[in-house]
Amino acid sequence: MRDAQPTTIYLSDYRVPDFLIDKTELSFELEEAHTTVNSRLYLRRNPEALDQSAPLELHGADLSLESIALDGRELAADEWVEEGELLRIASVPDNFTLHCVTRIYPQSNTSLEGLYKSSGMFCTQCEAEGFRKITYYLDRPDVMAEFYVDIIADKSLYPVLLSNGNCVLEEDLEFGRHRTRWHDPFPKPAYLFALVAGRLSRVSDRFRTRSGREVDLHIYVEDKDLDKCEHAMTSLKNAMRWDEDVYGREYDLDIFNIVAVDDFNMGAMENKSLNIFNTSCVLAKPETTTDAGFQRVEGVVAHEYFHNWSGNRVTCRDWFQLSLKEGFTVFRDAEFSADMGSPTVKRVEDVTLLRTAQFAEDAGPMAHPVRPDSFIEISNFYTVTIYEKGAEVVRMIHTLLGAEGFRRGSDLYFERHDGQAVTCEDFVRAMEEANGVDLQQFRRWYSQAGTPRLAVSGEYDEAAQTYTLTVKQSCPATPGQAEKLPFHIPLKVALLGEAGQLRLNLQGHKADPDAADNTERVLAVTEDTQAFVFTDIPERPVPSLLRGFSAPVRLHFDYRRDELLTLMAKDSDGFCRWDASQQLGLAEILSAISAQESGQAAVVAEDFVAACRSLLLDESLDPAMVALMLQLPSEAYLAELISPVDVQAIYRAREAVRKGLAHALRSELEACYGRCDVEEEYAANAEQIARRSLKNTALAYLMLCEDGEVYALARRQFERSGNMTDRLAALVAIVNAAEPYKGEALQRFYQDWQHEPLVINQWFQVQATCRLPGTLGRVKELMSHPAFDIGNPNKVRALIGAFCGQNAVNFHAEDGSGYAYLADQVIELNRRNPQIASRLLTPLTKWQKYLPAAQTAMKAELRRILAEPELSSDVYEVVSKSLQ
Ligand code: PHE
Ligand code: ZN
Repeated sequence: MRDAQPTTIYLSDYRVPDFLIDKTELSFELEEAHTTVNSRLYLRRNPEALDQSAPLELHGADLSLESIALDGRELAADEWVEEGELLRIASVPDNFTLHCVTRIYPQSNTSLEGLYKSSGMFCTQCEAEGFRKITYYLDRPDVMAEFYVDIIADKSLYPVLLSNGNCVLEEDLEFGRHRTRWHDPFPKPAYLFALVAGRLSRVSDRFRTRSGREVDLHIYVEDKDLDKCEHAMTSLKNAMRWDEDVYGREYDLDIFNIVAVDDFNMGAMENKSLNIFNTSCVLAKPETTTDAGFQRVEGVVAHEYFHNWSGNRVTCRDWFQLSLKEGFTVFRDAEFSADMGSPTVKRVEDVTLLRTAQFAEDAGPMAHPVRPDSFIEISNFYTVTIYEKGAEVVRMIHTLLGAEGFRRGSDLYFERHDGQAVTCEDFVRAMEEANGVDLQQFRRWYSQAGTPRLAVSGEYDEAAQTYTLTVKQSCPATPGQAEKLPFHIPLKVALLGEAGQLRLNLQGHKADPDAADNTERVLAVTEDTQAFVFTDIPERPVPSLLRGFSAPVRLHFDYRRDELLTLMAKDSDGFCRWDASQQLGLAEILSAISAQESGQAAVVAEDFVAACRSLLLDESLDPAMVALMLQLPSEAYLAELISPVDVQAIYRAREAVRKGLAHALRSELEACYGRCDVEEEYAANAEQIARRSLKNTALAYLMLCEDGEVYALARRQFERSGNMTDRLAALVAIVNAAEPYKGEALQRFYQDWQHEPLVINQWFQVQATCRLPGTLGRVKELMSHPAFDIGNPNKVRALIGAFCGQNAVNFHAEDGSGYAYLADQVIELNRRNPQIASRLLTPLTKWQKYLPAAQTAMKAELRRILAEPELSSDVYEVVSKSLQ
C-alpha cells in the first residue's frame, strides 16, 4: 500500500548506480508456513558514481529481516535504517559482501509479484520491481549480476526445482527434502530472476542451433495438461529458427525451459532460460482452444523467446526505456507471426488493436510517450503505447531503412551493446550509424505522446498532367505536452489508374531505387504542411494512402464513395482494401444514426450491399480477408471516430446495418457458409483458420435473420463441431440471439468442460459479453459460481474485464449500474492484487468521450474509488490522473 505521498519518478533524475553487484548467491528454503531467503551479495562501489561516499541503499518490500551482516560481521541496530522501500547503511567500504536473511510469506502473497504460490507450486514474477519482495537488493535493471541459486524443498511436494541457467548440483537431504543449485553464467538484472518449485510434468524436445549447439527444450505443466504442449513446442522451435534466419541470433545456453502457471498477472515472462507463462498463452489443443488461442500461443512463445536477445542479452537501463525491449520484441513477434501465417490478416488485426485501444489511450488521461518522462507506478506502464505503438515506431524505422538496412542496424545494436543495459537512444543511434542516416526528427516519436493527424487532399491538373498530394500534420495536446513539433512520418502511397497502379515520378526527387516497378513510394512527411507533386500522370488517379498502415496516425482524405468502392475492390495493398471497406461501413452506420434520430428505418446503400455481395461470391479471394472486410467497424473503433460517443445509438445503428446486410445477402451468406463448412482434421494453419473465420462471420450474420432455420444451423454447429473455434462461435451466436436453446447450450458446454479452467474462462466470457439486457445480473450471479475465483487474474479478466471492456452497450447502461459494478470490483481488488485492479479500471478512465450524463456518473465512481483508504499506488495513479 502506498505511503501518504505517492512519489513521482522522473527520467531526468536518472543517475548511474552508486554500487554494483558482481555476484549474487541466493538460497531459498521453501516451507509451508514461510520461506527463508539467504542472500550473499558481492558489492563494490561503482567507479562511475557521482558520489563516491554515498550510503548503500537497498530496495525491499514486505520483507521481514532476520539478520544482516557485512563482511561477516553482524550489523548493529544503529548501523542501518529502513525508510519506506529503502534499507540504508550509511557507511560501507568500497568492496564488501553483504549477507541478509529474510523471511517471506509466499502463501499469502495475492499480488502475484515476488515469490507466490499458484495451484500448489511456488513461482516468481520479478518484472518490474518484484525482486525487492524476495530480498533486499539493488532492484534496478542497470545492476547486473551473475546468479547462483540454491533451492531446498520437500521432495515429494516439490520434486521439480528450477531457476535460471544450468543445474549444477542435485542432492537429497534429510527429512525427505532435496536441494538443487543453479548457475546462470550471463550477468542479469534482478527482474529476470526466476524460481519454480512444484510437482510438474514435462514435454521435451531438442533444437540444434545453426552453429551446432544442442539445446534441450522443456515445457513444464501439470500432468493433466501434457496433451496441450505440442503447439507451444513447435512454435518455440519455429521461433528459434526464425531468429537465426532473420536476425542472425542464436540461443546461448544448453537448456531452455517454459513453465505454465494458472495465476499470472500478464501473458508471460522472459526470465533468462526459464520463461514463465500464463497457462492461457502456452496450452493449446483443438478441442479446447480457438484459432485465436493457437495464434496467441505462437505469438507469445515467440515473443518471450525473442526477448533472449532483445531484452536479456541487451537490457534496459531504466524502466523509462521499457519500450526498448517491448516495442522491438513486439515488432519481432509480429513479423514472425506474419511469416508463419497470413501477413495481411496479421497486419489488419494489429492495426485494429492499435486504432482502438492505443489511439484511445493516446487521447485519454493516461496518454504518455513511447518513452515516458515520469511515472508513479511502473506497473501501470505496461501499456498498448509502450508495446504496440512502440512496435510501430520500430516498424517505421524498418520502413525507412528497408529490410537490409534495418538488419545492419540491429546487428550493430546487438554487437555494440551485448551485456549492457541501454536506452532507446542507443537503439536509434545504432540504426543511424549502421546506415549513415539522420533520424534526429524521427526521435520525436519517442518523446511526444498523442496520435498525429494527417489531413491529405489531392488535386489533379489535367493540363499539366500532375497530381499533387497536400499533407497537413498536427497532433493534439496530451497531459503535460500542450504543443507538439512535427513528426517524421513515412507515408507509403500509390496512385490507382483505370488499368492499375501508375508510375510515380515525384517532382524534385529521384526514382525510389528500392521500388521495383516504381509504382509505390514512401513519402517523407516532415513539415506541418507539405505538397508532393507527381508528374506525367495521364489520368485522374485514386490515391492509395498509408499503405500497410505505414505510420500510427489518423489519416483523413475526402474520398468519394465510388473511390472507396474502387479501393475496396481493386487496391493491391490488403490493408488499404480492408480500410476502404471500413470507411464504407462507417458511412452506413453514420447514416443509420441519422435515420434513427429522425425516426426513420435504416436502409443499407445498394452499392455497399453489392460490394459485400461480390466479396461473398469471389472464391479467388482469401477467405480471411473477406471475413475481415465483411465485419463492420467495431463499436470500440466507432467510439474513436464519433464524438461524443452515444453508446446506445452506435450499438443500435450498427446492429441495424448488420441486419440489413444479413437480409439482403442471406442466400450468398448461406452458400458461403456451405462452401467453408468442410469436414477435415483440425490444423491451426492459415488456410483452415481463414475458412473458419469466414464461416463463422457468415453464421453471425445469418443469425440476424432470426428464424428457426438459422437457429438450427447454429445448433447443429454447436453440437457437431469437434474444435473449439466452431463450437465457441456457435455458442456466441446462440447466446446473443433470442434463441430458446441458449440455457441448455450453456449448461451443456459447462458440463463438457468443467474440468478445463481455460475453457470455463471462455464460458464466462461468452456470458459477460452477451449484448442482450440482463447481462450484468448474470455476471453478478456468476461471481458466486463455484468455478469463479477472484484471486485468478484470468477469471477476473474473463468475467469482470470482459463485461466492462468488451460489452459497451451493457457496461454503459444508462442507469450507471455498470460503472458502479466496476468501481466495486476495483475497490475489492485494490487490496488483493493492485496490478489487476488498476488495469481493470481502464474503461472508466475514458469518461471524457461520452455523453454528459455518462460523464457525470463515471466521474462519481472514480471519486468514490479515490476516497477509499489505503489505495495502492497503482490504482491511485490511474484514478487521480483520470480526474485531473
Ligand atoms: N515482460 C513481459 C513480456 O512482455 C510482460 C510482463 C511484464 C510480465 C511484467 C510480467 C510482469 O514479455
Ligand atoms: Zn515482452
